[in-house]
Amino acid sequence: DASDIEKGTYPHYMLKEVDEQPGVIRKIISEYQDANNELKIDEDILKAMNDADRLYIVACGTSYHAGLVGKQFIEQWAKVPVEVHVASEFSYNMPLLSEKPLFVFISQSGETADSRSVLVQVKEMGHKALTITNVQGSTLSREADYTLLLHAGPEIAVASTKAYTAQLAVLSILSAVTAKSKGIELGFDFLQELAIAANAIETLCDDKEEMEKIAREFLSTTRNAFFIGRAVDYYVGLEGSLKLKEISYIQAEGFAGGELKHGTIALIENGTPVIALATQAHVNLSIRGNVQEVAARGANPCIISMEGLQTEEDRYVLPAVHETLAPLVAVIPLQLIAYYAALHRDCDVDKPRNLAKSVTVE
Ligand code: G6P
Repeated sequence: DASDIEKGTYPHYMLKEVDEQPGVIRKIISEYQDANNELKIDEDILKAMNDADRLYIVACGTSYHAGLVGKQFIEQWAKVPVEVHVASEFSYNMPLLSEKPLFVFISQSGETADSRSVLVQVKEMGHKALTITNVQGSTLSREADYTLLLHAGPEIAVASTKAYTAQLAVLSILSAVTAKSKGIELGFDFLQELAIAANAIETLCDDKEEMEKIAREFLSTTRNAFFIGRAVDYYVGLEGSLKLKEISYIQAEGFAGGELKHGTIALIENGTPVIALATQAHVNLSIRGNVQEVAARGANPCIISMEGLQTEEDRYVLPAVHETLAPLVAVIPLQLIAYYAALHRDCDVDKPRNLAKSVTVE
């Protein structure tokens, strides 16, 4: 059928979409550049960012995980406080709102009912909303005051890959441009670093054989797996664990490295795979301490570190990129490892059981 043609030579949409990521980042850079190659964001959106005393990011699934990373960009660079909320819980655990909130809805499809119901609710309360979506003219885009597009092209595989990295790229651009408008110096060439991250993603996409080996080595027979990280690596681990459970049905959980000992470490048995991320210098020693704790209980650790932070025990070393942009790069092996784990288990990669690409019921 027609959809098979679009897959080209790829066996699955997911693999095709993983491979599209460097191109998507480059496309986003060009879409958000003006004639002088300066990054630009719509003036109204910049004004809304500058007027807000706090951002409330609302999203579901992978988009929620992108929001967690986005919080770091916005707070570190643009110095605006950010809360990140799961859409389906927002009304029940409603936060006490600041005086001048700006709501940011992150949604690949722009159609997720849980997110939409929060949008309707906050609009009724008279608040402003920005939607970050891949789909122009989608419900969440039409009903919000402002839209930023992901420019990732259609994402067909149920498990989101390129939309996630696109969300991170757009959130980073929004943060960098807002910082600039406030006269805040980032202290590095953001645009250049984002381009370097796109190149690093490409390098990783070219190293699929190694990802397949890692999947075979750590995940071919296991019933469960853990992802640990500290700081922003924790959030990337959450996304890695979601990818793995969505398509391979391996019970996977992401944990903050330091929280493991407060309960979850009880689940570690002989051979339990623990995928540990080490891309952040300030937590490099402490995450390695957590790896030792689980290894001492028999776990099979797979450390994925960033060039410059690696030790001999690491299973995979990511090309060096600016530390704050590391999530864009660190997620790639996790996507690919999940893909190959699902293949080994004969799972339907593009259409996993019980899941829908876009959930339009609450
Ligand atoms: C569904 C999909 C997930 C996705 C989530 C949010 O559950 O299976 O992959 O992350 O919806 O979708 P959205 O389109 O709002 O980003």
